[in-house]
Amino acid sequence: MLIIDGKKVSLDLKEELKTGVETYRKATGKVPGLTVIIVGHDPASQVYVRNKAKTCKEIGMFSTVIEMPSDTTQAELLEKIQELNNDPAVHGILVQQPLPKQIDEFAVTIAIDPAKDVDGFHPENLGRLVMGELDKCFVSCTPYGILELLGRYNIETKGKHCVVVGRSNIVGKPMANLMLQKSDATNCTVTICHSATKNIPHYTLQADILIAAIGKAGFITADMVKPGAVVIDVGINRIEDPSTKSGYRLVGDVDFEGVSAIASAMTPVPGGVGPMTIAMLLKNTLHSFQRING
Ligand code: GUN
Repeated sequence: MLIIDGKKVSLDLKEELKTGVETYRKATGKVPGLTVIIVGHDPASQVYVRNKAKTCKEIGMFSTVIEMPSDTTQAELLEKIQELNNDPAVHGILVQQPLPKQIDEFAVTIAIDPAKDVDGFHPENLGRLVMGELDKCFVSCTPYGILELLGRYNIETKGKHCVVVGRSNIVGKPMANLMLQKSDATNCTVTICHSATKNIPHYTLQADILIAAIGKAGFITADMVKPGAVVIDVGINRIEDPSTKSGYRLVGDVDFEGVSAIASAMTPVPGGVGPMTIAMLLKNTLHSFQRING
C-alpha cells in the first residue's frame, strides 16, 4: 500500500514556489502579497492564520494579518475588503472562516475581487471551474491540493470512477467538478454522496478513487472500500486520547488501519491532504501576482 505523502510533496512545492518568488523579485523588484483577515478569536482559526503568514514569509512572500474584533459589523469588514481590492501590493485576500454570526459569509465572499480570491470561493471562480476554464480561475486550495497529489503520484484518473463523499462549497463541490474535467489530469466518472444519500457503501464500493470529506472521524471503514482503490482522506477530526500529552489526537474521515489493508494508495492524517492546502494557497497567490503583473 502506497502512502501518499502530502507533507513531503508540500515541502517540494514550497521550494519550487520559493524559487518562483525569487525569480520574480529579481526581475521586477516586487514580491507577491497575501493579506489574511481574521474576525474574532476562534483559537483554531488563529492557529491556521498564523501558519499561513509564517509559510508565506518562509518562501519570501509578503504577508499581513488583519485582526478585527468579534463585534465587527459586516459593513466594516466589507469596507476593509474594498481597501484591499484597491491596494496594488495585495495580490491575494483571504477572509478566514468561520465568521461571527452578524456577518453573512456569502456577502463577504462576493465582495472580494475575483482576481485576488486566492481561496477560490467567489462564484466567478467556482463558475469558471465548473465550465472548465481552469487556467483562468482560482481553484479552492484543498481540492487543488488533492489534484496536485494525484498528479505527482501519477495516479491514473481517466475513465475511473471517483466517488466524493461530502458536498461542501469549499471541498466536495469543487472537488467533484475538478475530477469531472475533460483533462488528462482528471476525466473521471463522478458520483457525489452526502448526508441524505441512501446506502452510501453501495456507491463507495464502486469507487476507484474515493475522496472522503465528511467531517466524521473514521466514517469510511474497510467494508466500504473496493480492493485496490485510491483513498483520499480530507477529514481533520480531533478525538480525545488521554495517552497523548495534549489529551487529543487528529484522525481523518477514514479508518486508516482497516482501510490501509485494502486500498492501493492512501493519504494519512495528519501529513496527507492538510499540508497541501497552505502550499496551494501560496501557489494561487503567486499565480495572482503573475497575472496582475503580466
Ligand atoms: N477556514 C478553514 N479553512 C479555510 C480556508 O481554506 N479558507 C478560509 N477562508 N477559511 C477557512
